[in-house]
Amino acid sequence: MLNLSMRLNPSGPLTGSLTLPGDKSISHRYAILASLAQGVSTIHNYSSGADCHSTLNALRALGIVITEQGLNVTVNGQGLDGWQAPATDLDCGNSGSAIRMLSGVLAAQPFSSRLIGDESLTGRPMGRVMDPLRQMGAVIEARDGRFPPLAIHGSALRPIDYTLPVASAQVKTCVLFAGMFAEGETVVREPVRSRDHTEIALREFGAQITTAKRVITLTGRPSLEARQLLVPADLSSAAFFLVAALLVPGSDLYLRGVGLNPTRSALLDFLLSAGASLEVVNLEQINGELIGDLHVRHAPIRGGVIEGEVAAALIDEIPVLAVLGAASEHGLTVRDAKELRVKETDRIQTVLDNLRRMGVHADEAPDGMHIPGGQKFHAAKFDSFGDHRIAMAFAIAALHADGPCEIEGAEAASVSFPSFYELLAQAGSTA
Ligand code: S3P
Repeated sequence: MLNLSMRLNPSGPLTGSLTLPGDKSISHRYAILASLAQGVSTIHNYSSGADCHSTLNALRALGIVITEQGLNVTVNGQGLDGWQAPATDLDCGNSGSAIRMLSGVLAAQPFSSRLIGDESLTGRPMGRVMDPLRQMGAVIEARDGRFPPLAIHGSALRPIDYTLPVASAQVKTCVLFAGMFAEGETVVREPVRSRDHTEIALREFGAQITTAKRVITLTGRPSLEARQLLVPADLSSAAFFLVAALLVPGSDLYLRGVGLNPTRSALLDFLLSAGASLEVVNLEQINGELIGDLHVRHAPIRGGVIEGEVAAALIDEIPVLAVLGAASEHGLTVRDAKELRVKETDRIQTVLDNLRRMGVHADEAPDGMHIPGGQKFHAAKFDSFGDHRIAMAFAIAALHADGPCEIEGAEAASVSFPSFYELLAQAGSTA
């Protein structure tokens, strides 16, 4: 990847109306399920991010014909047994979702495959998916026993009754995807609720799946039917614009068609509890997912504490909330978020490193951070460390700084949000 340094200036108000790219989590799931359905599915507003294209390219290497027209993706589903042995390694790029979700399906195929990724992905833990898959009968090898590349020798799988040891929607999805290939009922128990796009999508494609008190039960060998699907705009991408509008005086911004699934919208509850001026309008349900428009205006933010279940629900938004916290009245404390350490970067370290570059004080904890409020942001040179959410979080910090800032590795944003800087400029933010 190029290493682009980008200059960002303090900002004028963010105004107008924006439509942000499709949700990354939902895009991965729709593409994989569409490939396993019988018939042609069209996915509208598919994520433009590199991560979701890693999934499409892996599916192509597995013999699935996929065409793209702008943001609409057409997938020629071949049914549950339609994937073919790949001639090459399957490159998941930077995407933890791609490698963990695909491995669930690959474990059950009558062929072997090898999943690889970039330097960041190659350092991320895979034991969390290997353990349950092995209990189902899968044969998987990993570098040093737990890191990519993953070599998967497909085999017949048996159903499992599995309690998730970490709050992870990727692991849940991996087990449920593998469970599609096992005769009988696969059960996943979630001590802490994680995003439920997989359950909703499986139901939408026609699988038999029930959820009661955080116990999910899927009947194996579903016959999935092709669907017309619309991916809502990604709330985790919207988070950057929400924080930008809250920070910059005079901002008054609409974000259209945003995914507001209750397992993701803890972000809105947190912002509202911290004093945000935020409204949801035009709420509707499409393909089982809630979608609405967000209206956000500049407001002073009190700050708050993110801990327990809320930490799991806000895990992707914590980098940009840390920026907001430093500018808030009382600051931000984050606990119970040690999963941040095994994301695309160790996001506790990379957030604190960049905050300190601006002269912002912050304390590190093994499972979080404490950032006192009311701090000034001094012009600084940031580093994305190759992490999309770090690049975008500090592009937002730059809007509030006392002079022009630079971001090294700004292009990392394209992993989830290639048009991020363009839309930020469109909202009137780069003076
Ligand atoms: C995702 C789940 C989360 C999240 C990631 C996407 C998903 O990861 O951080 O960006 O699509 O299921 P974990 O499930 O590992 O917590």
